[in-house]
Amino acid sequence: TDRYCVFGHPITHSKSPAIHKAFAAETAQDMMYIAIEAPVDDFAGAWRTFVADGGKGANVTVPFKEDAYRLCDRLSDQARRAGAVNTLKLEADGRVYGDTTDGVGLVADLKRHGVQLEGARVLLLGAGGAVRGVLAPLLGESPSELHIANRTAHKAESLAADFTDLGNILGSGFDAIGGRYDVVINGTSASLAGDLPPLPETLFNDGAFAYDMMYSAEPTVFLAWSEARGARCVDGLGMLVEQAAASFAQWRGVVPSTAPVLSALREQLK
Ligand code: ATR
Repeated sequence: TDRYCVFGHPITHSKSPAIHKAFAAETAQDMMYIAIEAPVDDFAGAWRTFVADGGKGANVTVPFKEDAYRLCDRLSDQARRAGAVNTLKLEADGRVYGDTTDGVGLVADLKRHGVQLEGARVLLLGAGGAVRGVLAPLLGESPSELHIANRTAHKAESLAADFTDLGNILGSGFDAIGGRYDVVINGTSASLAGDLPPLPETLFNDGAFAYDMMYSAEPTVFLAWSEARGARCVDGLGMLVEQAAASFAQWRGVVPSTAPVLSALREQLK
């Protein structure tokens, strides 16, 4: 039985063990998956202990994604760009491979909802680690424009500057949001505090999508605001399941179905 886990701190509320157990059952993989609370000052030690116990791979969540990035021997292009790793895999030769699947998870979930990214005007709110991790996969879908707006303008500007080779991307403060967008994605942590970034009333094109990378039983303030202005609204629960599926596929070489797991989680959230 191959062993996998998710590392975080705190980790008790993680849905990852339930998600991966469902994937393993569906694809008949002989594996186990547990949650491990690593000490904040010794992620590398926790990983080494897990590997010594037979661990083959792990997911990594807050606050360890940068620590995980630093201990990898090999990185995917996306992980290198993101400066963060959410998926660790022990290779046959003992080396550690790191990838980040958050961005492909977001793009997969957007597509599942029928969101057209190619040629779209896309606005991304926030400029923290969560946003950095999704920029390369979003730009890979060839939006006409990817605008990053953040409370602290210079963070959005320098983030955009790091990705200009991949597409039409620009960074600014919230005050420079202008015109209407086809897709607006909230990647700030403002939802956690029940805050809403200052957004203009005329934000959405007809048929536009609003996506919050967070999820909760009730719509986030951002989604409630967007719904009232006619946008089609989606929360981040699907992104969670899709990034998990992408990690699972890296480890096991089989792609699990995400729909049944997502509907089960949605039921539990109620
Ligand atoms: P994460 O890993 O979730 O991205 P982070 O790196 O701490 O966390 O980034 C949090 C993001 O949410 C930042 O873009 C932050 O804006 P600042 O860069 O100006 O700090 C944004 N954010 C947090 N609380 C916010 C609020 N109440 N209103 C608007 N933006 C907020």
